[in-house]
Amino acid sequence: MSGDLRVRPGRPEDVEALKVIRLEALGDTPDAFGDTLETVEHWSDEQWREKARLWNYYLAEVDGSVVGMASGASNDSRPGTCWLFAMYVTPAQRGSGAARALVERVSTWALVSGADALYLYVARAVPRARAFYAKAGFVPTGTTVTMHRDESLVLDEMRRDLGALSFHVEPVSPEALYDLRRRVLRRNDPSAEVTNPGDTLETTRHYGGLVGDQVVVSATFLAGPAPFDPDVAAYQLRYMATDFDLQGRGLGARTLRGALDDLASRGVTRVWANARVSALDFYVIEGWEIVPDSFFVSAESGVDHVVIHRDLP
Ligand SMILES: CC(C)(COP(=O)(O)OP(=O)(O)OC[C@H]1O[C@@H](n2cnc3c(N)ncnc32)[C@H](O)[C@@H]1OP(=O)(O)O)[C@@H](O)C(=O)NCCC(=O)NCCS
Repeated sequence: MSGDLRVRPGRPEDVEALKVIRLEALGDTPDAFGDTLETVEHWSDEQWREKARLWNYYLAEVDGSVVGMASGASNDSRPGTCWLFAMYVTPAQRGSGAARALVERVSTWALVSGADALYLYVARAVPRARAFYAKAGFVPTGTTVTMHRDESLVLDEMRRDLGALSFHVEPVSPEALYDLRRRVLRRNDPSAEVTNPGDTLETTRHYGGLVGDQVVVSATFLAGPAPFDPDVAAYQLRYMATDFDLQGRGLGARTLRGALDDLASRGVTRVWANARVSALDFYVIEGWEIVPDSFFVSAESGVDHVVIHRDLP
């Protein structure tokens, strides 16, 4: 495949991109989907905005252009299970690996949601999709259903076991974290500066929270004393970010704990950070302390901050 492929959770502001790729999908392969182009092409702008806001969907991009999508969702008829829906890759990118990257990202969402498997329905009318799913590790369960809108369309249920996947924390290169820094911390602004002069220093430690080879949490520690105690050697935490669809599920805390264990084993005794006020609870629960009277507004991001620290055993 040529070009730089990435898969990311869609955001409310991606509404136009979602509309374009979803309408393309419904027009290209009508038998693959429960929705029809005839219905969806008449949606109002407000309906699309609501979809972009509420749907757990993912976009595949090559060099920044959207080439595919998928969604991860529950299924009312199968409580407690996680499902892959709305899978589509534009014809020019089929066979490129974009579809596989979408499956891996939705599998990560399912795993982090507590599922041990990812399910899907595939129409018998789309043999290429079925061949692809088999290649990606999905196995038919033997259950079949028919499409609500057209009983003649038979769908096979397939299941991918997620037992081989796990969340883990490990040191990574700074480059592995730039995409998360930009998307989660800089509003996906393509012109935002996401590198740091300290990124390549020998003393700097970069950690990723990963599922497979996908980095879904970032944390960087730069050597340097805290402003409230300039004589004590310390490390500053920067660029702490968990991907949008996986926030609030303990992955940030697990990444931080893995990072602090590693730093402590290297003799680091204090860490500190300029923490976003909106994320303060997260750090306090993890044992960080707030430095009194340290409130400030960041010139870089315009966001409210306080200084926090934690002394390591
Ligand atoms: C389903 C989809 C996302 C898969 O992505 P992809 O990039 O095409 O997948 P790949 O090319 O990696 O794999 C497809 C496999 O099917 C094979 N294939 C191609 N045409 C086929 C056909 N008519 N019958 C059976 N197998 C076929 C390919 O050779 C390939 O297998 P191989 O790598 O062993 O050669 C993509 O084809 C797509 O968007 N299709 C239209 C929408 C759709 O059907 N969505 C599924 C909704 S459930």
